[in-house]
Amino acid sequence: MLVLGIETTCDETSCAIVKDGSTILSVVTASQYDVHTPFQGVVPELACRRHVEVVIPVLQDALTQGNLQLNEIDLIAVASGPGLVGALLIGLNAAKALSLATQIPFVGVNHVEAHLYAAMMGHLETLELPALGVVVSGGHTALCLIKELGRYELIGCTVDDAIGEAFDKVSVLLGMSYPGGPQIEALAKSGDRQRYPLKAGQVKGRPLDFSFSGLKTAVLYTTHGQDGRSLAHLSPQERADLAASFQEAALQDVVRKTLLACQQLGARSIVLGGGVTCNQRLRELLHDQAGTLPIYWPAAGLSTDNAAMIAGLGYHLFQAHPTSASLSLEASPLMPWSNTDQNE
Ligand code: KG4
Ligand code: ZN
Repeated sequence: MLVLGIETTCDETSCAIVKDGSTILSVVTASQYDVHTPFQGVVPELACRRHVEVVIPVLQDALTQGNLQLNEIDLIAVASGPGLVGALLIGLNAAKALSLATQIPFVGVNHVEAHLYAAMMGHLETLELPALGVVVSGGHTALCLIKELGRYELIGCTVDDAIGEAFDKVSVLLGMSYPGGPQIEALAKSGDRQRYPLKAGQVKGRPLDFSFSGLKTAVLYTTHGQDGRSLAHLSPQERADLAASFQEAALQDVVRKTLLACQQLGARSIVLGGGVTCNQRLRELLHDQAGTLPIYWPAAGLSTDNAAMIAGLGYHLFQAHPTSASLSLEASPLMPWSNTDQNE
């Protein structure tokens, strides 16, 4: 079955064609960094305009690279949430219009679940369940127990900033641009992780929840003081030390809570998704501390937003319920996870 995936939840326009849920025939992703970098973050209105301009050319490129015609596609899968509502509408309406014009069925996919699917792609038959799902992206930070594909128990999430968002904001505080994760990681390589005594927040009575806004504010006070002084008082080495100390505090917090959750819930493997999984220090820390627990990371190119993960997960949704979504399906900016068992 050939599935066309469409992803427009935030600042990437991506289309992909995936066969039977795991063989990627093409992925084309148009990033919008040029649009948002001058504003040091994503501007929703500008994101929507760019999605409108590029969604059809990106779709055409994905078909060309896959050596396929639209009429050879069996299913359209679109990220229908969570995300920026205007941005979601562009992808969703593109999917609906294509479906209406061609009679190809379409399904709406949860973008956050798809981030976890990116790491499970091609491993479903051997994946040790239950697995501990760890989402570390620009918009989400969450821990869940994956009982089977499509059945999750949400066990922790951030109460303020997402971890990727904290990387992006700290990058700006350190005088670098958006998106900040890769730049913090690069700067941290020459820094001393122990130089600044920074810590991620703990949520009272909820040991598996996250809080990164206090960590970000601690960096702000170190860079700009409480009176907003200029960054220039920090030497290049101090900036690198601050980047390394921030990164270490944020990542150690994720690793510690992930392993605590594994222990408490009896998880048999760890599955990670989202842009922060690009970070090599995160990979190193988790591998060093996870013992013999198998760890699944997204393959290269599938950590940040992409439509291959949407097409892949869409395939499985359609296998479970082989009917097209209704044309009245709405964009869901706060879309809940599917079949989530809360507080079991
Ligand atoms: O998953 P993603 O593409 O978008 C959301 O769904 O939110 O993640 C983007 C996030 C950005 O915040 C970016 O700074 C972060 O992933 N990121 C990283 C790295 N590469 C990307 N964070 C830390 N280290 C990296 N190497
Ligand atoms: Zn994402």
